[in-house]
Amino acid sequence: MINIPKGTKDVLPSESYKWQFIENAAREVAKDFNIREIRTPVFEHTELFLRGVGETTDVVTKEMYTFEDKGGRSITLKPEGTAGAARMFIENGLANAPLPLKAYYIAPCYRYERPQAGRLREFHQFGIEVFGTSAPEADAEVIFAASSFLKKLGIRDTRLEINSIGCKSCRAEYNRALKDYFRPHLGEMCATCNERFDKNPLRMIDCKEERCKKITANAPKILDYLCPDCRAHFERVKTLLDGLGVEYAVNPDIVRGLDYYTRTVFEFVSTSIGAQGTVCGGGRYDGLISELGGGNVPAIGFAAGLERLVLLMENTGVPFPEAPVPEVYIAGMDDASRAKAFSLVNGLRTQGISAEGDLMARSVKAQLKYADKLGAKYVVVIGGTELETGVCNVKKMSDGSVTCVPFADIYAFLKNN
Ligand code: HAM
Repeated sequence: MINIPKGTKDVLPSESYKWQFIENAAREVAKDFNIREIRTPVFEHTELFLRGVGETTDVVTKEMYTFEDKGGRSITLKPEGTAGAARMFIENGLANAPLPLKAYYIAPCYRYERPQAGRLREFHQFGIEVFGTSAPEADAEVIFAASSFLKKLGIRDTRLEINSIGCKSCRAEYNRALKDYFRPHLGEMCATCNERFDKNPLRMIDCKEERCKKITANAPKILDYLCPDCRAHFERVKTLLDGLGVEYAVNPDIVRGLDYYTRTVFEFVSTSIGAQGTVCGGGRYDGLISELGGGNVPAIGFAAGLERLVLLMENTGVPFPEAPVPEVYIAGMDDASRAKAFSLVNGLRTQGISAEGDLMARSVKAQLKYADKLGAKYVVVIGGTELETGVCNVKKMSDGSVTCVPFADIYAFLKNN
């Protein structure tokens, strides 16, 4: 037998309603915030992610699904949604559309990571991106959209952590301070940190190795190096969040795993789903569009991992809506009554009633057993008498009550009960 590739998952018919519930909530939030859907390709030119996500990130150095296509181009399955959205924005001249441009996506992403609970090689993100505004209101709005989304799902068990990692100018000074601090410790730190020391010392703060974490704990904090503009921006974002009643904690160690971030960064974290506790992450990326050859267009966004949301809801007992069941099952006894059942079932379907009947030439007993397994709310059995009289017994399965209903009135009966 050929198995599913490692780090990927099937969504079975018995669980897809959970995904639909989450996706519907995402679309509803997007609608409330006046955000339109975008769809970009699953694969892009590799160069987009090298330049966009950043050459010192784990995502680019270790995790990309990159291959050469038959035309000799280097292609990569998208590891995240922001770079593709930014490419779309530039390529379609959307800087000339009314700004800000607010977009959302629900899409698969691919990262070659070591699979564990909440960490897959194919996963799905609901993401929002807002292009064209540097106003702190946009930061607060995007964070509020993420928080509203989690609330809509019934998730209470997350903590919002925010930070500002400054702009190019304050970052330069901070990088110098980080280098001065880390230099004497380099011998004790891992090879990756040593590499990052030259290329992007901010990334060292993200190292998960215990020996590096100990040293990093006392490193200078970016918040002490923000320039007046970035400081004012961050203060304003916090004031706006306070005004919206969004609770948060400032965590100066959040730097995020992708290189494009500037100023505000944030994560919604849970302790109920194991080591991979970040269900949603995002931030401002004011330099990405110009880095990719577009104009000077500031932007901000976030993405939430759908697999982690399902896991969090399951682990913390957040209820999903009931799994869908057919409204009615209509069984037939012999050839003639089966034909009638078949036509009634399909007639009800065209009127928007979820109905089911026999497709397996089963006995009535087996049909009723199947109807029970499906959880049909009402069951009807049609035989010779019903065919003759044109009337049938509609049995309500929850209490066993039976109502005598003419065939022509089944729709009205089901609609009103
Ligand atoms: P990210 O933090 O890399 O950010 O990913 C966002 C979310 O995707 C994570 O919080 C997590 O829920 C989910 N996720 C990431 N990797 C995996 C994985 N291997 N398995 C399962 N879930 C995963 C971004 O991707 C940015 N593009 C977010 C953003 C949008 N920033 C600005 N705009």
